[in-house]
Amino acid sequence: MTLGFPFEQTTTPLSDEERAAILADPGFGRYFTDHMASAGWTPAAGWHNSRVGPLQPFSLHPSAAVLHYAQEIFEGLKAYRHADDSVWLFRPELNARRFARSATRLALPELPEEAFVQSVEELVKADEAWVPAYGGEQSLYLRPFMFASEPFLGVRPAAHVTYSVVASPAGPYFSSGVTGVTLWVSNTYTRAAVGGMGAAKTGGNYAGGLVAQLEAQEHGCDQVLYLDGAEHRWLEESGTMNLCLITSDGELITPGLGTILEGVTRGSVLQLVTEHGLTPVERRVSIDELRAGCRDGSITEVFAVGTAAVITPIVGFKGDGYEAVVGDRQPGKITLAVREHILDLQYGRVPDSRGWLRRVG
Ligand code: COI
Repeated sequence: MTLGFPFEQTTTPLSDEERAAILADPGFGRYFTDHMASAGWTPAAGWHNSRVGPLQPFSLHPSAAVLHYAQEIFEGLKAYRHADDSVWLFRPELNARRFARSATRLALPELPEEAFVQSVEELVKADEAWVPAYGGEQSLYLRPFMFASEPFLGVRPAAHVTYSVVASPAGPYFSSGVTGVTLWVSNTYTRAAVGGMGAAKTGGNYAGGLVAQLEAQEHGCDQVLYLDGAEHRWLEESGTMNLCLITSDGELITPGLGTILEGVTRGSVLQLVTEHGLTPVERRVSIDELRAGCRDGSITEVFAVGTAAVITPIVGFKGDGYEAVVGDRQPGKITLAVREHILDLQYGRVPDSRGWLRRVG
């Protein structure tokens, strides 16, 4: 089913000079393009009022349910400019599917996958000039989201829901992205439990992670590494990224699904690593196994994967009373090769034999 996202052009776009100044150093999540996609939903009308129009603030009643009960979901994906100036999305249908699963978990209405992809495509077309030039590691980060906009303080699924997509030119998520980051293994905080919302991409999971991120920073680490909620033993994810370990006997191990986010980059890496001579394995990994493996050299590389962070080498981690170094504290060779591989695919430098790219402009 397609909704159609007719385009209404803004009358107040940023000038070419203003846009160029932003694109010269976009950072992450700081600047937004001239337009946004949006649609509304009610039980009676279904999805309606879908369009791409000028970027503008929402007008929300102070009792809007999202502000009180956090009934909200979101996605993250990127548009990449290739050397011939064309613009492409990477596996947007996977984001659309995950968005639908997140919606179900948060008792929000499902947006048809085709409508999700169309809204993203129409916004990228409208703001194509904002897709950074080919040549660096910049892209246009796209943020689809859906929230309970009904003014109502009772606790039940909202009967008025808003969907929107905004776009933000983006450089690397971590300024130290390729040199490697360190993780704090929190014993205080967990991210999810069986039956909880861990697999959904919902704001509450990120809000709950902020204090854990502060704890990580207090211990001199860049990000938190969560253990499972039941035994405080099994690696989960880092809050904004999935985790991968490489072993000396050629396995790429990543924690299995259930309470973690099913990352698009995670899934893509699991398929690509066979071309790097690795066997992909999804299984539980304990913190003891990680510590022992880093000590005895049977775990040679660790990295984190995510849309925003792409592939980020993990060079060390710390927990209560211990500190561990991965390899020689430098980004691993295979990590960097897999990173190049996925970037080469996204930027069109190698053939897209799996059909993962979708042309937008
Ligand atoms: C992404 O990688 O797209 C994410 O959702 C991480 C984000 C919270 C910065």
